[in-house]
Amino acid sequence: MNPRIRLRPTMLSDLDFVISVETDSRNLPFITPWERTQHEGAVRFPDFRHFIVEGGADLASIGFVILQGCRNPQRSVELKRLVLQTKGQGLGRACVRLLKQMAFRDLHAHRFWLDVKQLNTRALALYLSEGFVEEGRLRESVRVVIDGADGYDSLIVMSLLDREYQARVALGLESAALSAAEGPSAPQNLHEEDAR
Ligand SMILES: CC(C)(COP(=O)(O)OP(=O)(O)OC[C@H]1O[C@@H](n2cnc3c(N)ncnc32)[C@H](O)[C@@H]1OP(=O)(O)O)[C@@H](O)C(=O)NCCC(=O)NCCS
Repeated sequence: MNPRIRLRPTMLSDLDFVISVETDSRNLPFITPWERTQHEGAVRFPDFRHFIVEGGADLASIGFVILQGCRNPQRSVELKRLVLQTKGQGLGRACVRLLKQMAFRDLHAHRFWLDVKQLNTRALALYLSEGFVEEGRLRESVRVVIDGADGYDSLIVMSLLDREYQARVALGLESAALSAAEGPSAPQNLHEEDAR
């Protein structure tokens, strides 16, 4: 059976959880953690969407997501951050499907984009297999310290355009995100998926 995923808007009272996930040593190599005030800004500022990801049979909090550029006049929405504590169970894929649907259907994005560290092979494989196309590399643009070794990693910029997303929908590649809970009666800002 495939995983169930739900997004709900992050509240200020969730930020202890968000920061604990963000600073977990399993996630730190792949992200640049924010100060609490940056998260507070993202919760409040309308250009952002900050969500808690709930998943599994009990819909427990398993991570968080930040979108940026939601009011961008270029209709270019950024997947700023995606961090899940439960890894390797298909929840990341379910989440990316839901976020694509949100970006293109609800936020009317023309381009949905992200950057990912070259060393992050898991996230890279996920984004590639979900239709994101590499745009280019920002060479050695982030400093990384792993096991005491100091160095640089490159950022890979990837994007998906609305016509590319619609082609995937037509091919049935996005079908897992089309659940009844996503219909017009679904409450605003609450997004749910039963991935099939
Ligand atoms: C990246 C992340 C969101 C992926 O979520 P996940 O639930 O672990 O991923 P899934 O189980 O849905 O797996 C998706 C795909 O990733 C790839 N993958 C999974 N584990 C992998 C691993 N250990 N190594 C390489 N690729 C891997 C596979 O292609 C997999 O698809 P498949 O199982 O159908 O072959 C999650 O692992 C995470 O939060 N990591 C730390 C923070 C992070 O890297 N965020 C992204 C920053 S851009």
